[in-house]
Amino acid sequence: MKILVTGGCGYIGSHTCCELLDSGYEVVIIDNLCNSKEDVVDKIKQITKKEVKFYKGDLCDKDLVDEIFSKENIDAVIHFAGLKAVGESVLKPLLYYRNNLDSTLTLLEIMNKYNCKKIVFSSSATVYGSPKTLPIKEDFPLSTTNPYGSTKLYIEGILKDLYISDNEWSIAVLRYFNPIGAHESGLIGENPKDIPNNLMPYIVRVATGELKELSIFGNDYDTHDGTGVRDYIHVVDLAKGHIKAIEHICKEKGIDYYNLGTGNGYSVLDLVTTFEKVNNVKINYKIVARRKGDVASCYADATYALDKLNWKATKGIEEMCKDSFKFVKNSNKDLNN
Ligand code: NAD
Ligand code: WQD
Repeated sequence: MKILVTGGCGYIGSHTCCELLDSGYEVVIIDNLCNSKEDVVDKIKQITKKEVKFYKGDLCDKDLVDEIFSKENIDAVIHFAGLKAVGESVLKPLLYYRNNLDSTLTLLEIMNKYNCKKIVFSSSATVYGSPKTLPIKEDFPLSTTNPYGSTKLYIEGILKDLYISDNEWSIAVLRYFNPIGAHESGLIGENPKDIPNNLMPYIVRVATGELKELSIFGNDYDTHDGTGVRDYIHVVDLAKGHIKAIEHICKEKGIDYYNLGTGNGYSVLDLVTTFEKVNNVKINYKIVARRKGDVASCYADATYALDKLNWKATKGIEEMCKDSFKFVKNSNKDLNN
């Protein structure tokens, strides 16, 4: 089976390509490299010892997407491509709406044209807004607090309307919680170009000495130590969830929604102290004001993914902290050589 992976050079996409290739799928990637590098394709080949076809280009480019489908005989699509920085989306909403919606509409139109009606979509726990109770179940009310989140919610709506119009589609909407960690090889992972917005990449930069200290956004939340609680999930566990989703949509038509999280909540301080312990480094931090828009706690009820997809996260936060650091140390070593 041949899978088109949009955004396959990115953080979650690259790990998913490895899992797909290891499971015997053929992989075609389209990525415009706006938030990734081409050498990831070689790293994927190095890890899996398999071939991957790479198209460098924009998913909004209808002619290119048409060309890919005409040449490649694609059976199903995993759609990662998109912009994902919450803060940037508030400053540049049109960029986010244009990129994330236009690319998805282009993709879906071409899929329809070639009668390829199986898609796994990368949604996010952000679509739950500020949940009233925890853990979060898939049928909780949906709302968003920023343009990035709205793009996810709109795309979920587009996919639902598409299925209503044509029951031949098989659609899995995966709502990720907080992916961290990296491939055990240390060859692929997440290392943002600019100052990171997310917690783990920031901690790693403090650990390498590139940043002086972590600012912890608030220690007065109603949580066990006052700092924000999230459901961190190892990116390799997350990637494996996509294989299960592909298997499922190949068996059953319909549209369905799955939380991909561990079901466990860890605080900012839990993550900092675990990172220090497993990597034997000191993370300097200071407590600052809460970050606007943050909720106190957010974690998944992941039982539906277990029941329907037979998927469950298996890696703990120790492994997540170890692998995140290993990847960045490894890439810094490459840069210095
Ligand atoms: P990423 O930025 O590492 O990967 C996205 C990839 O898509 C990048 O390689 C980028 O170059 C590419 N891309 C963006 N727009 C494109 C376009 N128009 N045409 C072609 N390529 C394009 O992000 P990620 O962390 O791997 O996230 C993957 C998906 O999962 C995204 O849709 C994101 O919104 C979603 N998601 C991510 C998280 C997270 O915390 N990382 C959480 C929930 C959901
Ligand atoms: C985690 C915790 C912060 C940075 C975001 C998106 C969400 C999804 C995943 C895409 C919070 C605290 C953080 C720092 C800190 N992405 N923190 N100091 O906000 O849960 O989710 O990424 O879909 O949509 O909103 O993740 O890693 O930014 O924050 O104290 O420098 O760490 O307050 O409690 P978040 P995060």
